[in-house]
Amino acid sequence: MNLQPIGIFDSGVGGTSIWKELRRTLPDESMVYLADSANAPYGERSPHEILKLCIKNTELLLEKDCKLIVVACNTATTNAIAYLRDNYSLPFIGIEPAIKPAALNTSSGVIGVLATRGTLSSELFARTSGNFAAGIRVIEQFGDGLVPLIEAGKIHSEEMTILLHQYLDPMIEKGIDHLVLGCTHYPYLIDRMKSILPEDVKIIDSGQAVARQTKRVLEAQNALAPANDNQVSLKFYTNADKELLRSFLNDVNDPFEIIELDF
Ligand code: SIN
Repeated sequence: MNLQPIGIFDSGVGGTSIWKELRRTLPDESMVYLADSANAPYGERSPHEILKLCIKNTELLLEKDCKLIVVACNTATTNAIAYLRDNYSLPFIGIEPAIKPAALNTSSGVIGVLATRGTLSSELFARTSGNFAAGIRVIEQFGDGLVPLIEAGKIHSEEMTILLHQYLDPMIEKGIDHLVLGCTHYPYLIDRMKSILPEDVKIIDSGQAVARQTKRVLEAQNALAPANDNQVSLKFYTNADKELLRSFLNDVNDPFEIIELDF
C-alpha cells in the first residue's frame, strides 16, 4: 500500500482527458497534475526542447513526492519516455496512439491517425505503426493548430471547424472506418469530429487503456492506495490561467484544487 500521489503531466489541458480516466479507474488514488500550458504546444517543438520540458516536469512531480508518473501527452511520450525510464527510478506510463485496436477491427482496411508533428515524426510511432498495422493502410495527418486552439478555449470556433474539415475530409474520402486520436487534447474535439465524420467511423483514444495499465503497474508493485481511505487529494498546477484549466474540469464532481505556479 502506498499513499503517495500519482503524478501526471501534459503540455497543457489535454491530459485532463487522461486524468478523468485515471480517476474513474483508480478512485482511491491522490493525484497531482501539471499543465505546462505556458510551453504548449509541444508538438511543434524540437525533440531536444521537448525532452528538457519533460525533465523539468518530472523533477517538479518528484518534489511533490509522486510514486508513478503518467506522461499524459503523446508528443512527450514519443520523444522522452525512454530517457525518463532510463534516468529515474519510478515507473512512467506513456501514451501511444491506439493503432492496434483500430488495425484489428477495421473492415475497410483504411484507418486514420490524427496527431501532432512531434508524434507522427517519431521513431516510436513508426515502430508502433509498423508492428500493428502491417497490411493496413494508415492515413497519417498532422493536427497543426488544433492544440493552440484548444489551449485558447476555442473548441467551438469557426477556425476550429475549418481546420477539422481540412484534416478529416481527405481521410473520409480515402475510406477510413477508424480514426485514432494520437494526442490527449483531441478527445475534447470528439463531438466536433462526430459532426463531420460519417456515422460508421469509430473514434478511438487511449485514455481507458492508459488507466488500466497504470492500475496494473501499481498492483504489480503493491503500490495502490488503500481502498476507501477518504484521504484522496486532487491537485492541479498550471503555469497559465487557472480559469482555462477549470473550464476543462467542469464535469468533475470531486473536490479539487487548482494552483497557479511558475514552472
Ligand atoms: C502538443 O502539445 O502539441 C500536444 C500534446 C500531445 O501530443 O498529446
